Amino acid sequence: MIPVTPLDTERPSTLATEISERLNAAIREHLLAAFAPDNTKSLRSFAAPEVAELLGVSGQFMRKVHAEGTVPEPIEIRAGRRYYSAQEIWNARDILERSSRTKGRYVPRRSPGEKLQVWQLMNFKGGSSKSTTTIHLAHYFALRGYRVLVVDLDPQGSLTSMCGISPEIEFDGLTIYDAIRYDDPVDMAEIVEETYFPGLSIAPSRLILSEFETESAVHSNPDQPFFTRICNALAQVEGNFDLVLMDSPPQLGFLTIAGMAAASSLVVPLTPSMLDVSSTAQFLELAGAYMGVIEDAGASLQYDHFKFLVTRDEPTDVPSQQLTSFMRALFQERVISATALKSTAISDATMLKQSIYEVVRSEMTRATYDRAKGSMDAVGNEVERMIHQAWGRT
Ligand SMILES: Nc1ncnc2c1ncn2[C@@H]1O[C@H](COP(=O)(O)OP(=O)(O)OP(=O)(O)O)[C@@H](O)[C@H]1O
Ligand SMILES: [Mg+2]
Repeated sequence: MIPVTPLDTERPSTLATEISERLNAAIREHLLAAFAPDNTKSLRSFAAPEVAELLGVSGQFMRKVHAEGTVPEPIEIRAGRRYYSAQEIWNARDILERSSRTKGRYVPRRSPGEKLQVWQLMNFKGGSSKSTTTIHLAHYFALRGYRVLVVDLDPQGSLTSMCGISPEIEFDGLTIYDAIRYDDPVDMAEIVEETYFPGLSIAPSRLILSEFETESAVHSNPDQPFFTRICNALAQVEGNFDLVLMDSPPQLGFLTIAGMAAASSLVVPLTPSMLDVSSTAQFLELAGAYMGVIEDAGASLQYDHFKFLVTRDEPTDVPSQQLTSFMRALFQERVISATALKSTAISDATMLKQSIYEVVRSEMTRATYDRAKGSMDAVGNEVERMIHQAWGRT
């Protein structure tokens, strides 16, 4: 139990520190209890029909390759049904790819000449689903055999938590800050960690990352301007990944702008409310101005795609639908056709630091789960097509 004593309300600075200490202690206790015994997150297994869909084959095909011994049986078989770990799905991909006549049929990684995809999700409107969208895209692509790196550019570290690292518990450990700081930066390869989710690695964040904002404001070495820092760090690990997804903080500071300079595509998630739309207009006005400034300073910005994504979409809410139609009329194909539906399946999952892909279907109302997953799949699928387009695969 944490002793609850009166807080010192005399000095604001002491009060804030006391509140933070009390909260951190409570979080540690709570999290330690919730993640006992070893604090590690793990991934569920996937039923045979899900695996067939992920691999793009029929159930019959899977039974055949198991019977022939081409692909080993999964370890978990319950009541005659096969359940695969994500690692077993990756292994199956590799085996099937080797015997496939169409290159890339099962392992869709980029080949030489297809450049690393760096997608940034950004909007200074808090709560516009930047982190939720980032983790769903990350899981969508990792499950389909791409090598994904998520970069958490938010000192709040929400994405880091969703990847199974608790910034509240693990205060130390390297973060993206260490790779982009001005003073003696470490190699990006040292800070990138594999997650419990096969195919997904993370450049984690912690509060210390906010130092980058302060340091960039005073830093004046023209040889290494702030907007080159993330780009250079990514170049150190580029060969290990197909796709980098960067989550941004809800502000347009040095981190977000350095992200923009490293990105090959941008996605601006926004919820269909009047407040969000007008705040997004301001965000883009400011972003445009900053893009101009860093271009004048030597940055070369070139995006394959620059899109809006409607998030927390409510098809039965008339005003929000009108706003969505309005955005589509104004910007046509700049608004991604698929939308991320507002769903209790998503909010319940994120409460447990999970994506919809980590939830077991039978543990939710099926129709709710199917709608939520269907919508996230549709968003992922559209982004996948845009990536293939950028790679010239069409
Ligand atoms: N499709 C959805 N359906 C229901 N709830 C959602 C959905 N997307 C996001 N949420 C909820 O909205 C809240 C804000 O989402 P999220 O943290 O992704 O936003 P954000 O833009 O990253 O916020 P911040 O600006 O603070 O970083 C979260 O509580 C999340 O669970
Ligand atoms: Mg966020």
